[in-house]
Amino acid sequence: MKIGILTSGGDCPGINATIRGVCKSAMNHYGMEVYGIHNGFRGLMDGHINRLTEDSITGLLTLGGTILGTSREKPFKKTSAPDGNSKSSQILKTIKDYGLDCLVCIGGNGTQKTAAKLMEAGVNVVSIPKTIDNDVWGTDISFGFDSAVSIAADAIDRLHSTASSHQRVMVIEVMGHKAGWLALYSGMAGGGDIILMPEIPFDIRNIGDTIIERLKKGKPYSIVVVAEGINTPDGKKAAQYIAEEIEYETGFETRETVLGYIQRGGSPTAYDRNLATLMGGHAVELISNGEYGRMVALQGNKISSIPLIETAGKLRLVTEDHELVVQGRRMGICFG
Ligand code: F6P
Repeated sequence: MKIGILTSGGDCPGINATIRGVCKSAMNHYGMEVYGIHNGFRGLMDGHINRLTEDSITGLLTLGGTILGTSREKPFKKTSAPDGNSKSSQILKTIKDYGLDCLVCIGGNGTQKTAAKLMEAGVNVVSIPKTIDNDVWGTDISFGFDSAVSIAADAIDRLHSTASSHQRVMVIEVMGHKAGWLALYSGMAGGGDIILMPEIPFDIRNIGDTIIERLKKGKPYSIVVVAEGINTPDGKKAAQYIAEEIEYETGFETRETVLGYIQRGGSPTAYDRNLATLMGGHAVELISNGEYGRMVALQGNKISSIPLIETAGKLRLVTEDHELVVQGRRMGICFG
């Protein structure tokens, strides 16, 4: 049996550990052949594919990024470009030419959508959720998230000293696309005083009041954690907008930091390595059972899977009743 494997969308810690999990169990346990497809779905268009061997997957457990390369290619996206519809037919041709029996697609929301389209086109597909944003619907956690939370929490820890030494407000912007998971988890772990997420509307006066209240309690400094996806006027960058508004509202000296791609880089945490390994192994188990059209998922403490069609096009967002929000509010943290 021949499996094709690809990684698509933004890179994140744990992708290589997943590739390793898929390859090792497919080759060692099931006697399958694995083919690496390069640069996401683009590799299926230009035929950039090679057989993976024990040698080519050595040292992957701790390695950041993806050895297969990635892209944000969306071959099924409707386009008026002349080559628009030919992309999907080229993909089907490549799969046939290489004699691939099925595909393992590792990626975030966009990838789940494309994988579902491939399934509808008759391809045997199994997908694995990967994103630092943790916004793939149907899985409690995507690998990459824990590593990004650790990096962001460490960055927030380091801002505390400048905040207290200079008696400033420090605003830190973290990623997350349209979801606030990364801001919520890193903000809580890093002891943020104000945490702003796209899912919870904010009022700048409440934020100002929180900062003034802290001053009255003898804390003339605050840490504000802002998700990149919060609503700002005229598309202004989240941290810049919030920092300007805080300075205007409170008169406090305010500084902003945008953490950026550092959140996506480097070695996965031990948690992500194990999650990635388990998810990779489960994908191969699904293939060996002929259970296609499914996305591997973590539900509670159990690795299972859901139909791809259920997750495609949906987002997993923070809700006001999430236990970290409820507990944070009880502790006096301002969420907007
Ligand atoms: O989806 C992951 C993510 O890191 C988002 O949080 C961020 O908005 C986006 O990717 C930016 O990535 P790129 O610049 O690679 O498109």
